[in-house]
Amino acid sequence: MRILVTGGAGFIGSNFLNRFVPRYPEHEFLNVDALTYAANLGNLASLEGASNYAFSRTDLREKDAVVAVVDTFRPNAVVHLAAESHVDRSIRNADAFVATNVLGTFHLLEACRDLQERQSVVFHHVSTDEVYGSLGATGRFSETSRYDPSSPYSASKAASDHFVRAYHRTYGLPVKITNCSNNFGPYQFPEKLIPLVIHHALTGRPLPVYGQGLNVRDWLFVEDHCDALWTVLEHGRVGETYNVGGNGELRNIDLVRILCSIIAHECQLDREELLGRIELVPDRPGHDIRYAIDAAKLRTDCGWEPSHSLEDGLVKTVRWYRDNRAWLESVASGEYKRWLEEHYGGGGSA
Ligand code: NAD
Ligand code: TYD
Repeated sequence: MRILVTGGAGFIGSNFLNRFVPRYPEHEFLNVDALTYAANLGNLASLEGASNYAFSRTDLREKDAVVAVVDTFRPNAVVHLAAESHVDRSIRNADAFVATNVLGTFHLLEACRDLQERQSVVFHHVSTDEVYGSLGATGRFSETSRYDPSSPYSASKAASDHFVRAYHRTYGLPVKITNCSNNFGPYQFPEKLIPLVIHHALTGRPLPVYGQGLNVRDWLFVEDHCDALWTVLEHGRVGETYNVGGNGELRNIDLVRILCSIIAHECQLDREELLGRIELVPDRPGHDIRYAIDAAKLRTDCGWEPSHSLEDGLVKTVRWYRDNRAWLESVASGEYKRWLEEHYGGGGSA
């Protein structure tokens, strides 16, 4: 099978490729990525020289380039991860979110529709639970929950989900959609809560928590998400949507406190001193109160279960950042961009 993965140099994409390229030598993987600020090809260093892996620097905002890369590689499956992914950035400026998440997805769909006239291609769209908006104190999102996005990021992902479904209904393009809860793990850019807290804890900075820290997120270790994506690729039904989540609900303030304990233990730091650095800071506008996923459909239809408890995943994550300080520092300082410039003539957009 030829599998085109978009966004493979980002957080989830690099975990996906590092996991499955060596495991499936019989499949060919092409990583299509524009290399924005969130990308780091260093994440994929272990794949250099793999005969079933190639990289193409292609920007999904450029339709002709997208059509050309799809036409040349002729994938049997597309795993579409590329996106602008950070809510706070989307609040500051949503331009790139509309351009990549909406228009870029449209370009990829068009390229696949074109290819579909010559051969079959399954389009797997990787999306978020944030399209459903906010829950109150009870209940969980199911695949039939109403779309009600709050941020420019989630609105752009909702729009892309609608386009993907429309291409299935209108043109018969074989599509699958997964909507996943918050991921964490190795290679996550330290602008997101968990790597930001680890980075700040290790460098003596304050640990910022928005509002009163009462917002709830449903956390999933990235390897479990990658396994869910593979399971859906293999066993998911065409035209279906699957919610992905690991029953990892926590209030932000509780998560940050637990992280402080794990960091103190794993990195020989003073737990009380870390706890004392937690700062309640002004809230994010439109901040969704609570997310929680009901993943029963994925379990029943495809047999997927997460294999990490939240605690196991957090310990693995803290150890990874502790043992990869050079990665963390190069990303936080922007050093990794100089490498991109040397090799690719520019650190990408956004
Ligand atoms: P990320 O920001 O770490 O990586 C995104 C990747 O997409 C980067 O490598 C970037 O260079 C690439 N990209 C961005 N714009 C592009 C463009 N115009 N053309 C080509 N490539 C481009 O994101 P992530 O956290 O790995 O998320 C991957 C996907 O999973 C996204 O679609 C996101 O919406 C979805 N998702 C993420 C989470 C999460 O918690 N991180 C949860 C659910 C769903
Ligand atoms: P984030 O990691 O940005 O993911 P998302 O916005 O997609 O859920 O944020 C996770 C939660 O943590 C969210 O409720 C916002 C909150 N948060 C903080 O409290 N402090 C921070 O510094 C950041 C980045 C996020």
